[in-house]
Amino acid sequence: MSNKTLAILKPDCVKKNLIGQVITKINEAGFKIVAMKMTKLTNDSAGGFYEIHKERPFFNDLLLYMTSGPCVPIALEKDNAVADFRKLIGATDPSNAEEGTIRKLYAESIEQNIVHGSDSDENAAKEIAHFFSRKELLENYNK
Ligand code: CMP
Repeated sequence: MSNKTLAILKPDCVKKNLIGQVITKINEAGFKIVAMKMTKLTNDSAGGFYEIHKERPFFNDLLLYMTSGPCVPIALEKDNAVADFRKLIGATDPSNAEEGTIRKLYAESIEQNIVHGSDSDENAAKEIAHFFSRKELLENYNK
């Protein structure tokens, strides 16, 4: 899975009508979209996805935010996908993000930070499987 990563265009991205701009940045950086959907997360789905953060003080707010409206999970493919995507989106806190990164350009706060990117190959595999069946991915690969 080392050439794949999972992005989520978060509810603030969708609400601000930024889906097109952010996907353009992702494509311009050389990523191929291998699966994509728009979905509104349930509390259970968001809680499972962010299970790793369940003891953190921001966990409940994170779930409220991630279930506040539709989001767009996207499975992406590129050599060195995890690291290259994290470079493209910038630091979690947009005030620390480098100029030109997606979060620097569009994010408002450390919580409402427009986009998620997997932090390891292992988590990328788990996160892609959280949103997409093997069939959904394979159908896209074969096109
Ligand atoms: P993400 O990269 O999706 O991973 C976990 C998310 O939790 C993160 O983006 C933010 O949306 C949120 N988050 C991380 N740290 C904090 C924090 N200190 N305060 C509030 N939200 C946070």
